[in-house]
Amino acid sequence: MPKLKRELNVFYLVMIGIANIIGAGIFVVSGVAAGIAGPSVVISFFIASLAALFTGLSLAELSSAITQTGESYTYSRKAFGNSIGFVVGLIKMMNNVLSVTAVTMGFSIFLISFFFPSLNSFIYLFTVSSLVILLSTYLNIVDISKMSKVATFLTLVKIFAISFFITLGLFYVKDNFDPQKLQPVFPNGLSGTFHAASMVFFAYIGFQVIAMATEEAKNPKRDIPAAILFSIFICYVLYSLVALVQVLVVDWQTLGKVENSVLYVTQKITDNYFVSLFMIFSILSAMLSVIITTIYSGSRLFFAFSRDGFIPKSLCEVDKKYKTPVKSILLLSFMSILCLFINDINLLISIVSFGYLLTFLLTNLSLIKLKKKIKPKFELPFHPWIPILGAISTILLIISLDNVAKIVGLAFVLLSFLIYFLFVKRKLDKNVFRSTHSQHF
Ligand code: ALA
Repeated sequence: MPKLKRELNVFYLVMIGIANIIGAGIFVVSGVAAGIAGPSVVISFFIASLAALFTGLSLAELSSAITQTGESYTYSRKAFGNSIGFVVGLIKMMNNVLSVTAVTMGFSIFLISFFFPSLNSFIYLFTVSSLVILLSTYLNIVDISKMSKVATFLTLVKIFAISFFITLGLFYVKDNFDPQKLQPVFPNGLSGTFHAASMVFFAYIGFQVIAMATEEAKNPKRDIPAAILFSIFICYVLYSLVALVQVLVVDWQTLGKVENSVLYVTQKITDNYFVSLFMIFSILSAMLSVIITTIYSGSRLFFAFSRDGFIPKSLCEVDKKYKTPVKSILLLSFMSILCLFINDINLLISIVSFGYLLTFLLTNLSLIKLKKKIKPKFELPFHPWIPILGAISTILLIISLDNVAKIVGLAFVLLSFLIYFLFVKRKLDKNVFRSTHSQHF
């Protein structure tokens, strides 16, 4: 069976996690979410973080027992069989492809609107986005340790920039505190707060990439759970403070209308051009690191899917020279470039959130189902309450998503089942596929 190289330690795993988590979400979605939830957007971030945390914990336990790459796809397949496994795998492939597309579009929109505002047609957006995807593809192919070093550098830059933004904001608020800005706390009721939570959940997506690295981690049973928990906690603290600063500096109605709320708030705090320049570079770095690491995790999923025989076997070949799954990486990047033609970042973000929430729901259910069969190194207390809370919180967020995302997402699920029963199952019954799915835990 093809194997990947083991060379990632816990520090790099946390860096890959945060590199994947903090990206377009906090910069693109946080302002829009404040326009819906009002000051209670801070609570929305908390609700979304709970869903991420419960699921992250379930994922940590599963990944400490099942070290085969593929994450929720692998777990669902072991727990619920080939049909659910196949559908989860397809949804995850869609998620990865569309995430790369969405975040790259965010990158290009920010870059063009700040530096070249006159070049605002689709052709420029497409060209810049394609170049960014190709550069990230190159880094992924050439060397995983180089990729993780670049991602680490970009991650440190964005953590610094966000901390800088929070510090500037808190100092500003100390002298300009206006309690009126916090009224009313729930302008659209609790449903507005939950709807905003379902939107900002996108900002937490990425922690699962750590569990995708089980075959490349030095000590997967210890390092993977630790890295998942550290990453979610660090992001939760940073996000809550960013949301708090934003609603304290600018009223929530205005935040809902501006395109780049973080930059807008920065300019409110100080009209120093170099500070804005530093923030825009950091925002672009944040998005770039998400693009690089999403290509990383997505290609490992294609790798696992191919190794299990669901898609052509050639996609799980590890390149002799680079020791990376080159064909999987190239396929994912090509599909992401094609999806740029959808050309609607908000639609892309909502569909991706739907897809992830659904697969996270299945991850929680998988832990409940597999609990008696696995021997995890990291075990959650109070079983089965954490996966149950994870399942409930993901269901609540799915219900709170906007209707178009739910309809498109459900249509994709039905289509995946159709493909499975019309094409895949028949071949499976004829034993065309290899049975790597046997019960190895
Ligand atoms: N969490 C990632 C982002 O915000 C997907 O860009």
